[in-house]
Amino acid sequence: MKKPEGKRVLIVGRIREGTVIDHITAGEALNVLKILGITGTTTESLSIATNVSSRQVGKKDIVKVEGRELLTEEVDRIALIAPRATINIIRDYEVVEKKGVEIPRVLEGVIQCPNPGCISNTSEPIRSRFEVGERGLHCLYCDWLITRDIAGHII
Ligand code: CTP
Repeated sequence: MKKPEGKRVLIVGRIREGTVIDHITAGEALNVLKILGITGTTTESLSIATNVSSRQVGKKDIVKVEGRELLTEEVDRIALIAPRATINIIRDYEVVEKKGVEIPRVLEGVIQCPNPGCISNTSEPIRSRFEVGERGLHCLYCDWLITRDIAGHII
């Protein structure tokens, strides 16, 4: 029997419990993990697929985090680099929740300010704070504006 197009190969297996981040902008999976603070030395099992074909978005990346349900405020940060990502919460092999990501208004502790003189780059115990605006990311301490290569500024 001919299998439907796109369902022929399961690139990474289904997970039992956890979070599947689907429709990540192709090539951004490792940056998504970086933003989420998932390094591979943490206890979760990870599956990562990059540049896989998708009927919806052409090419995409997928990240599966087994054993951890990611919170909305954690995953919303990835909207900066993967605005079309969908978050699927999996319980007992079933998708029990599916949602998109929304760009947060303020990012705390995610981006390093490029200004060496910024107070967030000194030994002060201050987490960086950026406001997300139409022109880019705006440092709430020193007014620096980041307009490109956001992924390159992730802490
Ligand atoms: N998935 C998984 N493990 C499960 C269930 C689902 O890894 N136990 C993955 C699927 O492989 C898919 C994503 O979670 O990448 C969403 O699953 P599902 O909603 O069943 O797929 P689609 O209908 O193709 O999703 P969408 O409509 O969001 O494209």
